Amino acid sequence: MTKLTIVANDGTKFEIDAENGSTVMENAIRNAVPGIEAECGGACACATCHVYVDNEWSETVGAPEVMEEDMLDFAFDVRPTSRLSCQIKVSDELDGLVVHVPERQA
Ligand code: FES
Repeated sequence: MTKLTIVANDGTKFEIDAENGSTVMENAIRNAVPGIEAECGGACACATCHVYVDNEWSETVGAPEVMEEDMLDFAFDVRPTSRLSCQIKVSDELDGLVVHVPERQA
């Protein structure tokens, strides 16, 4: 199990034990984190699972792939640490990961 913290836009922290191989989006939905809509179900086709990776983690999580980057163009208030949470796979390497939910989805 990998510890994952998703901070909702109102500051509420969701501390989640995530299974390796699952995505950050799946964990957000399972725990009813407000602000993560994930309309396409994780197919990298909707950009409504947008999150900001915490600054301390952005290097470890890495940059988006081309397809994700194209999709991020549709997200609201994109920043350098923006990622689509359905494209972040939980692994031991990400134990302690913190991501923040934006003010709203696109
Ligand atoms: S759930 Fe649709 S792009 Fe992530």
